[in-house]
Amino acid sequence: MWPFAKPAADPVIRLFMPARAGACATIHAGNFHRGWSAQEIADLAAEPSVLAHVALDSQEKTVLGFSLARHVGAEAEILTIVVDRARQGKGLGRSLLQTQLDALSSLGVTEVFLEVEAGNAAALALYGKLGFQRVGERKAYYAKAGEPAATALILRRIGA
Ligand SMILES: CC(C)(COP(=O)(O)OP(=O)(O)OC[C@H]1O[C@@H](n2cnc3c(N)ncnc32)[C@H](O)[C@@H]1OP(=O)(O)O)[C@@H](O)C(=O)NCCC(=O)NCCS
Repeated sequence: MWPFAKPAADPVIRLFMPARAGACATIHAGNFHRGWSAQEIADLAAEPSVLAHVALDSQEKTVLGFSLARHVGAEAEILTIVVDRARQGKGLGRSLLQTQLDALSSLGVTEVFLEVEAGNAAALALYGKLGFQRVGERKAYYAKAGEPAATALILRRIGA
């Protein structure tokens, strides 16, 4: 390595701020058929029962991903987790989800649920690595234009 070259600094995970909603909406729209608007994301994140984190580049300028979870008592649900397509597969999803799980645990959450499309290999790999297990399924749950509706799996993790 060139003697003066610094290694690239790692991304960071921070609590969501409303100013980040637009960038979050762009990343969401790039990954899902029905994207959530910036307003929808900001409104959800502002709910007292919702915990929201963003992944940012080391300069804290660019949003690389985000995750939202709703918690009620000892239970929580991951509402969404999404990483910018260009940054997927580099450990960011895992960092985001682990941060959410740690924060939920500190709030007294002991059981976390989520719903995922049966064919979503990346998400299933991530959830499996972090201890989620399949507890149910909803057949023909996600409507898809021009193809059969996809199955949803319900996953649970005991101990946030
Ligand atoms: C699902 C998602 C959030 C994962 O984030 P990511 O940053 O790409 O995942 P990571 O790099 O942190 O990978 C986490 C683990 O899953 C594994 N993994 C990731 N993508 C994978 C794939 N396509 N196939 C198999 N394993 C995969 C990784 O090897 C890693 O395991 P490791 O920590 O033991 O190395 C991301 O792919 C995404 O935004 N997808 C589109 C939106 C989405 O589907 N969200 C979930 C809706 S339920």
